[in-house]
Amino acid sequence: EAKETFAGKKFLITAGPTYENIDPVRFIGNHSSGKMGFDLAKEAAKRGAKVILISGPSSQKIDNKNITLHKITSAKEMFDEVFKYYDSADVAIMSAAVADYTPKVKATEKIKKNENELTIELVKNKDILRTMGEQKKNQFLVGFALETQNEEENAKVKLVKKNLDLIVLNSLRDEGAGFANETNKVKFFTPTEEQSFSLKSKEEVAKDILNFIEEKL
Ligand code: PMT
Repeated sequence: EAKETFAGKKFLITAGPTYENIDPVRFIGNHSSGKMGFDLAKEAAKRGAKVILISGPSSQKIDNKNITLHKITSAKEMFDEVFKYYDSADVAIMSAAVADYTPKVKATEKIKKNENELTIELVKNKDILRTMGEQKKNQFLVGFALETQNEEENAKVKLVKKNLDLIVLNSLRDEGAGFANETNKVKFFTPTEEQSFSLKSKEEVAKDILNFIEEKL
């Protein structure tokens, strides 16, 4: 039995991909399964936290009455849902893979196959995490960085730009890391520290992240 080290604490955790509709049958998405975020939610709940888990489309299941699951589809919906709970959170962990861009126009009817080329215009989504950083009061704010090159440099830029207390880097260049795997390999950066971990199950990675947060609260 885990000690209830987070009793009385409220966690806001995001998980999974977002889907950006192109028309009623098609969307732009990504490979996130939601596992990393669900494992974080489960481990925080085990340690006594009340968890609001906001997830995009995922087949992951929750297993603890301390977790309330809010399902959303698009980045816009995730943004709106997050800011209903952010003010009252003690800890926020953004492990969702949020779409950076969304189709400018969502066609109301199925797009027909006519021309040889089809152009879909995309517009930038608001950055949820960056907005959270701007509005941060006493929350301990954790972001993820999913990179394929210049990993550490990019993660450190995100840490500062988004005003985070901790960023968890995972690189798709590391075998077994990132999405769709049962495992992950991460590195932590805070404004003053860094710490590397070996490849482990996402359950174990969730424990490492929450142990680190436990020390800082
Ligand atoms: O779900 P799994 O299959 O288990 O995979 C886990 C994971 C690989 C998705 C996860 O470990 C992970 O890395 N999540 C973040 C993926 C991502 O979108 O990273 P990013 O570097 O593009 O974004 C940086 C941070 O900004 C993230 O915390 C992201 O949630 C946040 N963000 C990004 C864009 C946006 N519009 N709003 C955001 O809040």
